[in-house]
Amino acid sequence: MPDILIVYASRDGHTRSIAQRLQRQLDEQGVQVRLVDVGSAADLDPSAFQVVAVGGSVVYGKHDPRLSRFLIENAHRMTDCRRVFFSVNLIARKPEKQTIEGNVYVRKFLDNLPLNLDHVEILAGKLDYPSYGFLDRIMIQLTMKFTDGPTDRKTVIDYTDYEQVDRFADLLKTLASDGVTAS
Ligand SMILES: Cc1cc2nc3c(=O)[nH]c(=O)nc-3n(C[C@H](O)[C@H](O)[C@H](O)COP(=O)(O)O)c2cc1C
Repeated sequence: MPDILIVYASRDGHTRSIAQRLQRQLDEQGVQVRLVDVGSAADLDPSAFQVVAVGGSVVYGKHDPRLSRFLIENAHRMTDCRRVFFSVNLIARKPEKQTIEGNVYVRKFLDNLPLNLDHVEILAGKLDYPSYGFLDRIMIQLTMKFTDGPTDRKTVIDYTDYEQVDRFADLLKTLASDGVTAS
């Protein structure tokens, strides 16, 4: 049985690629990771994993509601697991938005979650105007305009700090090897 379960929600694949990198990093260190799209997580039993990490991107101000549903419905099975949440979003390209207090999306997600977590990681996402449909592009350009980000429709920027991702992998490994859980 793998040590760590990662359940992710990804609209355009960026969060999936971050989750895959976590899996690769951990695998190289002998830590087994099971990676599951939240859409296929209904019959999962997380109780056998040391760490359950659930994460996804922010789309129009919200995380995929299936993430909180997964955590809530499985809370009774995760009493002996270390529980982790990670969020991928564009406002986190600014360092002050990489904290729970500074990131309104993460704060809202946690406020509505009736269980404690052992760790929350906030990662900057990817901006990829050419891949967006017309309406999505206009909306994201507007958001960027208000937050001093790039608005040129040809812009593609991966804001993710991969050293942060690798440090996050190390933290998951530490959590998997040390058995204390959040109360
Ligand atoms: C339609 C759409 C809406 C988005 N809304 C937000 C938002 O409200 N706030 C934010 O910080 N990022 C927003 N983003 C940025 C995504 O969170 C970011 O691009 C992330 O890397 C996407 O990851 P994914 O491919 O795993 O879904 C949005 C992206 C898209 C495509």
